[in-house]
Amino acid sequence: MEMLSTGPELRTLRLLSCVSLVLLFQVIDAKRDFKSACNTCQQITDNFNKGFDKTAKQNFGGGNTAWEERKLSKYETSEIRLMEIVEGLCDSSSFECNRMLEEHEEQLETWWFKRQTKNPDLHKWFCIETIKVCCPKGTFGPDCNACVGSSERPCHGNGMCDGDGTRGGDGKCSCDHGYEGEFCLDCIEGYFNEVRNETFSLCTECHTSCKTCTGATNQDCDECKEGWEEDDQETCVDVNECSSDSSPCEEDQYCLNTEGSYSCKACDKVCSGCTGAGPDMCQACANGYQNTEGSCTDIDECLQSEPVCTKEHQECVNTKGSYTCICSNGYEEQNDECVQKSQSEKVGESEESETTTSSHGEL
Ligand SMILES: *[C@@H]1O[C@H](CO)[C@@H](O)[C@H](O)[C@H]1NC(C)=O
Repeated sequence: MEMLSTGPELRTLRLLSCVSLVLLFQVIDAKRDFKSACNTCQQITDNFNKGFDKTAKQNFGGGNTAWEERKLSKYETSEIRLMEIVEGLCDSSSFECNRMLEEHEEQLETWWFKRQTKNPDLHKWFCIETIKVCCPKGTFGPDCNACVGSSERPCHGNGMCDGDGTRGGDGKCSCDHGYEGEFCLDCIEGYFNEVRNETFSLCTECHTSCKTCTGATNQDCDECKEGWEEDDQETCVDVNECSSDSSPCEEDQYCLNTEGSYSCKACDKVCSGCTGAGPDMCQACANGYQNTEGSCTDIDECLQSEPVCTKEHQECVNTKGSYTCICSNGYEEQNDECVQKSQSEKVGESEESETTTSSHGEL
């Protein structure tokens, strides 16, 4: 019995929730529609005004005979002119525009022939008062309520009122950069109120050294930004991260202080640790380099009194930071020894320089 009755009830419930969902979407859609409908209407009236100007010039012959004047004044308010203007109101591709035009062409005609003189502002008469898709500037929604702040200065001049000038939207403010709050009178972090009363607020950016502040200089910080610290005059000054005993950088890097931060730069290759750029800023010289007058320079191992390439028929070649031992011309490396090349190979390689080399320490 119960099982039987739940069936239809459930179905009704589902149906109801479906209907309410559809209704909800229609409400959301309608809100969006009102905004875009106003845009469409605005476009129509803008194009109307353009067409109006264009047809005014187009049909002026240049002469001013009485006949021409009469003809002209007749054309000015004629159906022909209206039709010429209406032709240019919508792009053929704009479905919204053409639908609105079709639906309300009669009202445009009414304005053209009967209301124009008393209501010269077409947008106001047509979009706001007659087909009611727009609102006066600074107002929004179905009843054209004033935006937050006032219709004269929506969001107190520091933001955009949702739906402003349309029959849609909820009138809430989206504040310009630097401002926040329902009324766009508060300043975001990093900004301070240069001027403020109940209806007016000017937010200005704090000094770069401040996280929060009450004024524009680094003496007006409430709190310093990371990378700055208060000195004994309560001014935010740059932290020199590089002056601390333990450098924040790697061993083969030096520390470069910047405003509010620092960076780590690679030491010169000739250094083993350094305090700055170049071979004369080394803390110690890298292997294979020696200190000559405060700068690290390559050691020529081949000129040392103690020979470094000791095998027979071996020659020493200096390299940057090291050296190599090679077999002399006409000799080649075989089993760690330099042996004379065979005659046939010699001919083929006569022009080539030493081909077999071996890094020091491996021979
Ligand atoms: C608020 O300040 C603005 C700008 O300084 C000024 O024009 C306005 O009259 C002030 N309003 C009030 C209520 O004090």
